[in-house]
Amino acid sequence: MITSSIKLLIPTLVGLLCLHFARFSTASNDNERQIYIVYMGELPAEQTISLTDVHHSLLSDIIGDETIARKSKLYSYGRSFNAFAARLLPREAELLSKKEGVVSVFKNRKLKLLTTRTWDFLGMSEKIKRNHQTESNIIVALIDTGIWTESPSFNDKGFGPPPSKWKGKCVTGVNFTGCNNKVIGAQYFNIGESAPPDEATPADTEGHGTHTASTATGAAVASASLYGLGEGTARGAVPSARVASYKVCWGYGCMDVDMLAAFDAAIADGVDIISVSIGGSVRSFTEDSIGIGSFHALKKGILTVCAGGNDGPYLGSISNVGPWIMTVAASTVDRRFETDVELGNGDKISGIAINTFAPKKGLYPLTSGALAKNNATFGNSSACDYGTLDKEKVKGKIVYCKGAGGDYVVKELGGAGTVMSNDQDMDTAYATGSSASYVTLKDGLKIEKYINSTKSAQGVVYKTRIVNTTAPFIASFSSRGPQTLISNILKPDIAAPGVNILAAISKFTTVVGHENDKKTSIFNFNSGTSMACPHVAGAAAYVKSFHPKWSHAAIKSALMTTSKPIKVKEGGELASGSGQINPKMAVHPGLIYDINTTSYVGLLCKQGYKDKEIALITGSGKYNCSKIQRGKGADGINYPSINLQVKSRETNISAVFYRRVTNVGVGKSVYKARVESPKGVSVKVVPDILLFSRADQKRSFKVTLKGKFVDKDSRYLSGSLVWSDTKHEVRSPILVSLPIS
Ligand SMILES: *[C@@H]1O[C@H](CO)[C@@H](O)[C@H](O)[C@H]1NC(C)=O
Ligand SMILES: *[C@@H]1O[C@H](CO)[C@@H](O)[C@H](O)[C@H]1NC(C)=O
Ligand SMILES: *[C@@H]1O[C@H](CO)[C@@H](O)[C@H](O)[C@H]1NC(C)=O
Ligand SMILES: *[C@@H]1O[C@H](CO)[C@@H](O)[C@H](O)[C@H]1NC(C)=O
Ligand SMILES: *[C@@H]1O[C@H](CO)[C@@H](O)[C@H](O)[C@H]1NC(C)=O
Ligand SMILES: *[C@@H]1O[C@H](CO)[C@@H](O)[C@H](O)[C@H]1NC(C)=O
Ligand SMILES: *[C@@H]1O[C@H](CO)[C@@H](O)[C@H](O)[C@H]1NC(C)=O
Ligand SMILES: *[C@@H]1O[C@H](CO)[C@@H](O)[C@H](O)[C@H]1NC(C)=O
Repeated sequence: MITSSIKLLIPTLVGLLCLHFARFSTASNDNERQIYIVYMGELPAEQTISLTDVHHSLLSDIIGDETIARKSKLYSYGRSFNAFAARLLPREAELLSKKEGVVSVFKNRKLKLLTTRTWDFLGMSEKIKRNHQTESNIIVALIDTGIWTESPSFNDKGFGPPPSKWKGKCVTGVNFTGCNNKVIGAQYFNIGESAPPDEATPADTEGHGTHTASTATGAAVASASLYGLGEGTARGAVPSARVASYKVCWGYGCMDVDMLAAFDAAIADGVDIISVSIGGSVRSFTEDSIGIGSFHALKKGILTVCAGGNDGPYLGSISNVGPWIMTVAASTVDRRFETDVELGNGDKISGIAINTFAPKKGLYPLTSGALAKNNATFGNSSACDYGTLDKEKVKGKIVYCKGAGGDYVVKELGGAGTVMSNDQDMDTAYATGSSASYVTLKDGLKIEKYINSTKSAQGVVYKTRIVNTTAPFIASFSSRGPQTLISNILKPDIAAPGVNILAAISKFTTVVGHENDKKTSIFNFNSGTSMACPHVAGAAAYVKSFHPKWSHAAIKSALMTTSKPIKVKEGGELASGSGQINPKMAVHPGLIYDINTTSYVGLLCKQGYKDKEIALITGSGKYNCSKIQRGKGADGINYPSINLQVKSRETNISAVFYRRVTNVGVGKSVYKARVESPKGVSVKVVPDILLFSRADQKRSFKVTLKGKFVDKDSRYLSGSLVWSDTKHEVRSPILVSLPIS
């Protein structure tokens, strides 16, 4: 049963963002009924009676009462797979799961959002070579919070009508002006009233969906900035491509029933790439709406790209790990949001924030929450908790608050600004609602000492300056492997910029997203694997515009084997996957590691999934593990990276990986293997020379790892295999890691 929740993948400082949770009454007065998804696999080859009728008669059979049966059914999925959603009693769900033709019944769960100079940074200049014609036939689907079509990033000047393969639609709703030739589709899913009916609209009232869509596909908009910060041309990876928006996230989260409906629609609508910046805790593939939806997508050759989560830097935190999914980590870019604080004693302290407020004078009186406390008996005045500060002691002053979230309290009381301390890694800048900055705990203590040392403490917070810095690193919040579902497949797969990303947002949101925030902008900075994911989806669309016939796995392989390794403090490749995307190189990868649908099934068989469970994931009853070749070797699939999880440090490392590459370069070539062995492990590649006489030729090789886990301090050993023909470098990380205990 599905139990935990999915969310948008944006990290938040505790106290910064209040999500409003709401409960909606159910239509049935039988309040024990809950929403279940009844999954019936693939669409029948021949449809004599409508699926809706099939679903209804199944329900009537179980429930008995015709009227209740009619009322309890919420939705029939039937464009890409066969399923329905209904309000059921647990007993009815149990009975249904035993019915002929029913593959599985699972409970609806909540997911969450995982909340531009980046393309230059990634080596894709505005003048990069493009296939405009093919690019304009590519449709990128964003399963997200909706879209604000009027954003200049979605201006359709110069676009022809949607490609002929497009079968989707554009629905109407409150605050939504419709689609154009850039945003060709907009739908929302609100099954079982995930949102109140008067809020049901494809419009993006959150900002997240507009941000991700413009990162992947936005047209170039000159002089984009947030109140002058980060000014430059904002653009997506594929400005000529089309966008189809599928809204599944509402005020309090994103529902499985809606997620599945979005996949059902997007696949049938004819999209090319699906981008999902949403996730939840890791669950078995048999209960995972994103895992199941993306498998259906792959059967139609569609690559699904997902954010890997914001639960780093802890090992074992990675999610959306399906081997057919491209799982994305977030990296930093080469800009830092310096927001300096100057003290009356001349000390200058460098903080990090997105502060668009410039000081109006030189120095202000400075105090701390602890000194400005009122007589309230509740709350924590040092942290500037709401209701704990005395207005008279705050007015006109800058206030030092321990922890995050004091800036609105100080602002409301007429304070001149706030300095907060942040115990997280200082790589992510958060927008402030007033003149404010975040400093390290150590610098915070320094400020506090100064305040306590004098009766006339003074200070000032400057407007943010963007300075150059070395990059990329993996963001501290970015979720890390090792994954727990299929231990010998490395996740995340790849990294892309996800820290302080400037992109379009919706006019219905404010800069900080706080209820008292009045400041709006049509561009804003955001951080999260949510922001990294559409970079990869856009890059995948870019590769596809040169190779429209390539499989989903070929595109994924091209992006992975051409990515640049990243030095990572915490987690190595468990944090970065193969490395930072390099879209320009990915167009010419030389060799690719291809994977077909049957191979994923062979892998699931090897993992011990039962035929019935496989039918559930694949949506097809035709796969039978006793007839399918199980994946060979340690991982059992032709994956573009090599990962071995050993039981313990004492285990003798001994494993074989089988691989098969396809030559996608032109004609004759000779590739030689170059190995960098993980410490204490010998790596043998046989053969270590691959000869190709023509394009599309395939060559097999095997990689044998032998050794001991010698490094006593590390939980992983890193190495690599590079196939080189002097023109191409086809790189796979080789990782040996310990399981998460
Ligand atoms: C529509 O926009 C108005 C004005 O921004 C806003 O107050 C309202 O909440 C929006 N309604 C919906 C359903 O998004
Ligand atoms: C706190 O002080 C205010 C103003 O002096 C007074 O009105 C209020 O009753 C006091 N509250 C408590 C809990 O002492
Ligand atoms: C008040 O909040 C700060 C910052 O979160 C924390 O360090 C401190 O321990 C808290 N004090 C109390 C008394 O809870
Ligand atoms: C500063 O003074 C406040 C209020 O008296 C006290 O709570 C705090 O611990 C002092 N901080 C330092 C660093 O001395
Ligand atoms: C920062 O980097 C950009 C791009 O490389 C360059 O144009 C700019 O001059 C640099 N600024 C500083 C202050 O070094
Ligand atoms: C899928 O790939 C495997 C491994 O390369 C191969 O043996 C098999 O024939 C392929 N199946 C189909 C249906 O192409
Ligand atoms: C799979 O094949 C085996 C052997 O042919 C057979 O016994 C079994 O019933 C089949 N399973 C399914 C689910 O079709
Ligand atoms: C590892 O190999 C050594 C030497 O071959 C052997 O003595 C030892 O028992 C093995 N350890 C394990 C845990 O299998």
